[in-house]
Amino acid sequence: MKLSVNGESHEVNLPEDMPILWTLRDVLGMTGTKFGCGKALCGACTVMLDGQPIRSCSTPISAAQGKQITTVEAVSKDKVGQVIQQAWVELGVPQCGYCQSGQVVSATALLRDNPNPSDADIDNAMSGNICRCGTYNRIRDAIKLAATNNGGVQ
Ligand code: FES
Ligand code: FES
Repeated sequence: MKLSVNGESHEVNLPEDMPILWTLRDVLGMTGTKFGCGKALCGACTVMLDGQPIRSCSTPISAAQGKQITTVEAVSKDKVGQVIQQAWVELGVPQCGYCQSGQVVSATALLRDNPNPSDADIDNAMSGNICRCGTYNRIRDAIKLAATNNGGVQ
């Protein structure tokens, strides 16, 4: 089976129902994407599938056939991902950091779709990403800063 991850093609011989997260971390050695709940509840494992955020712990590799998986390792390959990561650093968003790769992926997907998100847009897009350290206010501020730095208007 062929998987396309961050623009690179990988031929893998794995069960079709293997979760994308297992494949990324254990087979391809890409550990930027985190395991949290394993039940599509926390968002730690968020990657993009054709630009849309998905829970990789509960999405089988069969669903990625013919599609592009984008992980946190490649988020900074375009301007939107770069401004998100810069805003994260500037505002010191992470606390323990565990949830943050999923947060960054969801925030990048949001800003690519919607360059000037409202508070409600942000809350809606980020509602599936749980942070046990409670960095939600800084996450919202960083997305707004990134939107401004990307040319959006607050
Ligand atoms: S690890 Fe996938 S949603 Fe929690
Ligand atoms: S920064 Fe610790 S869980 Fe979110």
